[in-house]
Amino acid sequence: MANYGKPDFWALKSQKEGYPARSVYKLRELDEKFGLFSGGSSSGSSFPFRVLDLGAAPGSWSLYTLRTLGDRVFLAAVDISSLSRRYDKGLFDRDNFFFIQGDITEEDTRNILLSRGPYRLLLSDLAPATTGSRQVDTLRSLGLAETVLEYAESALAQGGHLAVKVFQGGDTVSLLKRIRELFRVGKSFKPQACRRESFETYYIGLDKK
Ligand SMILES: C[S@@+](CC[C@H](N)C(=O)[O-])C[C@H]1O[C@@H](n2cnc3c(N)ncnc32)[C@H](O)[C@@H]1O
Repeated sequence: MANYGKPDFWALKSQKEGYPARSVYKLRELDEKFGLFSGGSSSGSSFPFRVLDLGAAPGSWSLYTLRTLGDRVFLAAVDISSLSRRYDKGLFDRDNFFFIQGDITEEDTRNILLSRGPYRLLLSDLAPATTGSRQVDTLRSLGLAETVLEYAESALAQGGHLAVKVFQGGDTVSLLKRIRELFRVGKSFKPQACRRESFETYYIGLDKK
């Protein structure tokens, strides 16, 4: 079993830099490698740059997005859990941020999120509550990723990008195939900030068709 109790280098760094979770460094790597936020980095006709963050709690990815893009972004975020208010310094109270506490698989939640789109970037760090059975956890993670692809189909604008976390071990070949059908570029990438023992990886879709 992995030792998730002891804060490691990345966990300590995130606290020092004002983020509630180490996962922020995975998003930073994904952004640096794939330019996920590049469409929101300068002003233009299609602003605000709309981003949807699925599985947002405790809130590191949302904070990273708001701090990186500032007033140029409109960010919608969802989680079954609440966000941590320890580090946001009021950013979660601003008009360019919307959070709903809900389940992404429920129709009401989906409709509320779709009504705030279409989005230019869809982020999903969703993870099922782990059971200790890798087979069960992997299947649930894949189920969530499939739901994320449904959001990508209906809520993401043409030319938009996707980053979705998946636990390795299930039928990720079919997942990647679907991503490549929906996007001009589809690939997988494991950030260095992932725990060495973790079997999670990220699937990237660039430039929705
Ligand atoms: C690894 S955490 C996300 C961390 C977040 N990206 C951050 O940087 O703070 C995964 C999240 O997925 C959420 N989650 C799992 N299943 C969900 C579902 N069906 N609907 C909404 N959120 C869900 C969990 O509650 C959990 O907060």
